[in-house]
Amino acid sequence: MLSKKMETAINNQINAELYSAYFYLNMSAYCEEKSLPGFANWLNLQAQEEYAHAMKFYNYLHDRDGKVILDQIDKPKSGFKNILDVFEQVLEHEKKVTAMINNLYTLAVKENDYPSQVMLQWFIGEQVEEEKTAKEIVDQLKWVGDKSTALFMLDQKFGRRLDQAAEETSE
Ligand code: FEO
Repeated sequence: MLSKKMETAINNQINAELYSAYFYLNMSAYCEEKSLPGFANWLNLQAQEEYAHAMKFYNYLHDRDGKVILDQIDKPKSGFKNILDVFEQVLEHEKKVTAMINNLYTLAVKENDYPSQVMLQWFIGEQVEEEKTAKEIVDQLKWVGDKSTALFMLDQKFGRRLDQAAEETSE
C-alpha cells in the first residue's frame, strides 16, 4: 500500500511534469513565431515526452491503488531574449526536475517503498539524458553565436528529431 506522503509527492510530480509539457510547448510557440521550425519541432516533441512522463506517474498511482488528484498548472514564463536564452532556461528547468526526482527517491527510501524506488530509477536515468541533451544544445548555440548560416543548419538538425514519447510510455 502506498503511503499518504508518497501519494501526495507523486501527485505533485504529475503536476510538475504537466507543467514541463506546458513550459516546452510555450517555447515551441516562441520558435514558431521566430521562424525556427526545427527548434519548434524539437520543443514540441519534448512537450509530448513530458506528458508521457506525467502519464507514467499517473498510471503508477493507479497501479498502487492510489488516488490521482490533478491540480492547477502554473502559467509558463515567456519573454525570451533569443534561442540561446530558451535553451539555457531548458537546462535550468531540467536541473530542478532532477532535484525533484531525487527528492522523491529519498522519500521512497525513507518510507521503505521498494516499488516506488524501482519505478523512480527509470526517471533518475532519464534525467541524466535530459540534462546532457540540454547542455549539448546550449553549448552548440554558444558556438554558433550570431552566425545565421550555422543557426539555420542547427534548426534543420532539430527538425529531424522524431517522436520518442510513444516509445517511452510503452516501457
Ligand atoms: Fe520530465 Fe524533462 O523531465
